[in-house]
Amino acid sequence: MAKRLVIANWKMNGSLALADEMVAGFAAQSNVDVIVVPPAVFVSRLIERAQGSFEVGLQDVSQFDNGAHTGDVSASMAADLGATAAIVGHSERRDEHGESDAVIAAKALKALAAGLMPVICVGESLAERESHQAEARVRAQIEAQIDCLALSGDIAIAYEPLWAIGTGKSASAAEAVAMLKEIRKVLREVAADRADQIRILYGGSVNGENIAGLFSHEEIQGVLVGGASLDTEQFAAIIRAAEKAGPV
Ligand code: 13P
Repeated sequence: MAKRLVIANWKMNGSLALADEMVAGFAAQSNVDVIVVPPAVFVSRLIERAQGSFEVGLQDVSQFDNGAHTGDVSASMAADLGATAAIVGHSERRDEHGESDAVIAAKALKALAAGLMPVICVGESLAERESHQAEARVRAQIEAQIDCLALSGDIAIAYEPLWAIGTGKSASAAEAVAMLKEIRKVLREVAADRADQIRILYGGSVNGENIAGLFSHEEIQGVLVGGASLDTEQFAAIIRAAEKAGPV
């Protein structure tokens, strides 16, 4: 049995005040792993103030170790601060920064090598879903991570259909579960010996209202929460729902 994993992705939002509010309002639950992922500039503040009550991650890490890469942050720098996870391959980075599957695979490897848990995001666009390409797209995104999947170290996969991100229109639990089952199947094909240890999360318009329905399915082992994670009360409600739903 694994604890459900609840991850807050603040994206380019938040402030020192929100970081402090998150710490003050946080109530740990024994059966839930929580990772808060603020913009990189707030990571050390959260780590210092959270004192281990929740973990802190990065929204991205470089595919390089160090050097002339202005604006980038390396996985080892993040680990040095005490961060424990790094989101890689978020669709916003794929779209806005042109990140390919190969670049994302290199980033995931750097995260693992530094001892961070890569949270590898996959998901299809609306056009891909409507043209029945969703499963093939997600399969290709996972197969691109084969080197990372062959290594030991904690990894999570987050299924985030692009049409559900920031739209207020979550995938239905049935749609999410169907894709999560498909992802598990692909993992068993490409990484048979560890496929069942990898937690698979859903992300896309998760909030305090739809969370109980999502967590009523054992396939949804966690959630990656964007907008609702900026509201400390709503985020706390999502964590409580994970506790109530129990480990999977
Ligand atoms: P929203 O929860 O705002 O839809 O964002 C989802 C997401 O992209 C989390 O990484």
